Amino acid sequence: MLSNYKNVSLIPFEATWTSPANIAFVKYWGKKGHQIPANPSLSMTLKECVTKTRTIFLPSDKLEVRLKFKGQNEEIFSKKIYDFLVHLQSELPWLKQLSLNIETENTFPHGAGIASSASGMSAFALTLADYLHHLCPDAQDDFFFKRASYLSRLASGSACRSIYGGFTTWGSSHSPDSSDLFANQIKVHDTFLSLQDTILVVSGKEKNVSSRAGHSLMGEHLYAQSRYKQASFHFEKCLSAVQDGDFETVGSILEAEALALHAMMLTSPAPYTLLKPDTLAAIQAIWDFRQETGLPLYFTLDAGPNLHLIYPESHKSKIFTFIAHELSPLGEMLIHDTVGLGPQKC
Ligand code: PMV
Repeated sequence: MLSNYKNVSLIPFEATWTSPANIAFVKYWGKKGHQIPANPSLSMTLKECVTKTRTIFLPSDKLEVRLKFKGQNEEIFSKKIYDFLVHLQSELPWLKQLSLNIETENTFPHGAGIASSASGMSAFALTLADYLHHLCPDAQDDFFFKRASYLSRLASGSACRSIYGGFTTWGSSHSPDSSDLFANQIKVHDTFLSLQDTILVVSGKEKNVSSRAGHSLMGEHLYAQSRYKQASFHFEKCLSAVQDGDFETVGSILEAEALALHAMMLTSPAPYTLLKPDTLAAIQAIWDFRQETGLPLYFTLDAGPNLHLIYPESHKSKIFTFIAHELSPLGEMLIHDTVGLGPQKC
């Protein structure tokens, strides 16, 4: 993927990209080796929750990364990018001679508990892919995005799925286009292109166990193999259902996946939970609402306490009224999102 770029002459360059967050319907949880997923995953790319990143690349005598988030120096994110670039030096040795000035900001509020690593790392990876393209142009656009997805995966696994709009898969499966190395955009039934995602932010606080630690606990988890089997089964089922427009099947997989992800944390060798009492109260209220009304409102969760409330646009008005009246008091804020078209160069 990067072999054409091993020997290049460095020149100054600047690029700005926006890239969205994504929400996994079938979850990636557990790795085989370096950033290779233990099972295939499937996600929806968001529209409103995006990161905008501007990177200035300058030739230098050593690797340096300076990162500002909303105008303020940000050491943690800067270190993550530095470590990612050090790791990439085996494929791109000239990264040792680059100074990077990065300015980044999110459209979603800081402390909203929305994983910003997918949008943040993919936005940065797109500026890097743009630099590679500038150093050594490659006519095929498709390769540009594959390469950006490859780079995003190395920076933060699920970020590789943010490179494409609509719905995306990542990880080897029965599907011939699937790969462990980069994500792939999939065709879905038209009704899925207007799916709604209202995020109920139960807590915007920093979580106390990182996703990196969670992935690594799967290495010694007694249920790991059963979980990977379940995820692969859900993946095949979900892939057919999004293509057939079968929202009820997708909804039941969404919830089963969210609960399985959090069950893995609760039953891991070092048990923990990221769920809050109000997360469970909201789940019960959603189940009661569905039983009483028959309306198709389902939830999913990332590695955190916040619920993504997923429903078809055709039922938006009744479902949103329920969310605003019954669920919103259980959280700190609501963020309304829908399916996005993917990253954009600014
Ligand atoms: O990409 P990571 O390492 O932050 O892991 C993401 C894990 C989940 O968000 C819980 C699931 C997923 O597939 O996005």
